[in-house]
Amino acid sequence: MLKNDLILRAARGEKTERTPVWLMRQAGRILLEYRAVRNSLSGFKELVETPELAAEVTIQPVDILGVDAAIIFSDILVIPEAMGLTYEMVEKKGPHFPKTVETVNDIQALKVADPTDLSYVYEAISITKKELNERVPVIGFAGAPWTIFSYMIEGGGSKTFSKARRLLYEDPKMADQLLEMITQSTIGYLKNQIKAGADMLQIFDSWAGVLPPKHYSRFSLKYISQICDAIDEVPITVFAKGAWWALPELANVNCRTVGLDWNMNPEEAKRILPGKTLQGNLDPCALYGSEATIKEATKQMLEDFEGHPHIANLGHGVYPDTDPNRVKYFIECVKELSSH
Ligand code: CP3
Repeated sequence: MLKNDLILRAARGEKTERTPVWLMRQAGRILLEYRAVRNSLSGFKELVETPELAAEVTIQPVDILGVDAAIIFSDILVIPEAMGLTYEMVEKKGPHFPKTVETVNDIQALKVADPTDLSYVYEAISITKKELNERVPVIGFAGAPWTIFSYMIEGGGSKTFSKARRLLYEDPKMADQLLEMITQSTIGYLKNQIKAGADMLQIFDSWAGVLPPKHYSRFSLKYISQICDAIDEVPITVFAKGAWWALPELANVNCRTVGLDWNMNPEEAKRILPGKTLQGNLDPCALYGSEATIKEATKQMLEDFEGHPHIANLGHGVYPDTDPNRVKYFIECVKELSSH
């Protein structure tokens, strides 16, 4: 039995004695303790692929920051890799795919990920579960098919994602073919994360906001819905960054929680999504402010979500140069200010 299951109860829409809190990208990025583990290895990928160490950095934020959930240390890009497209993580720059998908032949050379391919992730989850000893739930995750598709086409980050977006006009059939393979890979992957012990799941659609609304429904939400329909074992959170216009449609997706970024209006989201728990949405830049500023901003956020099931978080991942002490202070503020 979990000792702290606040986040699961909030995800189910139940009233809780205080608002649960965690941070997207809390594992890695900001903690010196993470850097120490990371610097003892050849790079990011070795850490992701070494279950004992991945478990260690997954638990660090629970010990050091006091968050109400652990998110498994991995990356959304393990899925394209398991499908046959390997990635490199370039120091200080981010992900890079030496080979990208350009033609239908390139897709035919890929496969639907064999769920056993990613056994290092499942092993990291089961070690994490064991070492956490029921202190807090473990969040598993995957990228949304559209976001993964963007990386496979672009080969890395992009300002415009114009290669990925143009394919939706030039060859929608080819786009669907790849999106379907990613979706099938992701369903098997998430189900195995649950088997390994994940208590809840988040789907990151980081590049949702680059699509026009009609394409978003047709090429992204459609596949997110298929994933949510295939999984009913644990609560799912969908975070569609930048896609404020998709909130009405998200009401019909089989997920328990909808993540909001800091551009989205909590009042509006509460009205549009009466049946969903809302997660978010403090501007990550608020954590660069003084303690007084952080407290005020946190108070405002909690008031904005008042009366609605809520999981406190930032509106996107914590920025890498944020002072961990300010992060800790934010978490303390949520705990203190939301206790009734
Ligand atoms: O939330 C967590 O802390 C768990 C671990 C996690 C990582 N990546 C570890 C990581 C999670 C949930 C992700 C998801 C992820 N990865 C997303 C979706 C979330 C979002 O922020 O929108 C995306 C788009 C990626 C792709 C990716 N991975 C990028 C663009 C980069 C480079 C820059 C950065 O830090 O975001 C990564 C590398 C990465 N993934 C690092 C970590 C801790 C830093 C690499 C290092 O330690 O050298």
